[in-house]
Amino acid sequence: MLIGQRVVIIGGSSGIGLETARLAAIEGAEIIIASRSKDKLEKAKEVLGAAITAYILDITNEEQVQSFFEKVGAFQHLVVSAAETSGGPFLETPTSAARQLFENKFWGQYYAAKYGAPKLSPQGSITLFSGVVAYKSMIGSSTLGAVNAAVSNLGQTLALELAPLRVNIVSPGIIDTPSREKMPVEARNDFYTKIAAKLPVERVGTAVDVAQSVLYLIHNEFVTGTVLHVEGGHILT
Ligand SMILES: NC(=O)c1ccc[n+]([C@@H]2O[C@H](COP(=O)([O-])OP(=O)(O)OC[C@H]3O[C@@H](n4cnc5c(N)ncnc54)[C@H](OP(=O)(O)O)[C@@H]3O)[C@@H](O)[C@H]2O)c1
Repeated sequence: MLIGQRVVIIGGSSGIGLETARLAAIEGAEIIIASRSKDKLEKAKEVLGAAITAYILDITNEEQVQSFFEKVGAFQHLVVSAAETSGGPFLETPTSAARQLFENKFWGQYYAAKYGAPKLSPQGSITLFSGVVAYKSMIGSSTLGAVNAAVSNLGQTLALELAPLRVNIVSPGIIDTPSREKMPVEARNDFYTKIAAKLPVERVGTAVDVAQSVLYLIHNEFVTGTVLHVEGGHILT
C-alpha cells in the first residue's frame, strides 16, 4: 500500500502515466499529476477523482520544472512518463526534428530527475521511461532509439549517484495508448496485428501492463539501476 506517500507523475494525464496514477491512488497514495494540456489534466482528474492535484507543466522548460518541484515540496516517488515521440527515415528527417525529440524525451527526464531528486525522500524512488527501440533496432527509429538508450544510461548512473534514492527505468514495447492515436485507425490496427503475430505473447501491450511494472519498481526496495523490459518478448524476436 502507498498510504501517506506522495507520488508525482509527470505525464500522468494520459496512457501509462494515467494508469500508474490510477493504480497508485487505489493503494492510497496522494497523487500529483502534471502535463501541458489543461484539457487532458481536467479529463484525468475526472477519471481519477477529485482528490488528485494537477499542474500544467512543460517538462522541456527547465525553469518551469524547477518551480514545479518548489511548489510540490517533499514527496516519495517520481514517475516521468511525459514524452511526445516521433520517427521517420534517417536521411529524410530534419535535424531539428531529431533535436526536438531529445528536448522532449531526454532533457525533460533529465530536468525532472535533477530538480525532483532534492525533494524526494531518500527511501523513495524515481522511475524514468526508455523504450524497446533502444534494444531492438527498428527502421525509422534511429533518433528515438538513441534517446531511449540515453535515458536508460542516465537512469543507471543516477542509481549510483543519487543512492540510497532508487532510480529505475521502464522500457515499454508496443503499447496501445493515446500516443498512437495520431496513426489512422486502419493503419494502427494493421500495425498491432503484425506486431501481435510476431510476439511470444501474441498481443500488443496495454497501459495497465506497464503501470503494474511501475508500481513494482515503486514498491521493491531491493531494485535499483534496473531497466525493466515490458514488451511481450519483443527483443527476442
Ligand atoms: N505507447 C508505446 O507504445 C510506448 C513504447 C515505448 C515507450 N513508450 C514511452 O512510455 C511513456 C509514456 O507513453 P504513453 O504511450 O503513455 O504516451 P501518452 O499516452 O501520449 O502520454 C504522454 C503524456 O506525456 C505528456 N507530455 C508530453 N509531452 C510533454 C511535455 N513536454 N511536458 C509535460 N508533459 C508532456 C502528455 O500530456 P500533454 O499532452 O498534456 O503534455 C501525456 O500526459 C513515454 O516515455 C513513451 O515514449 C511508449
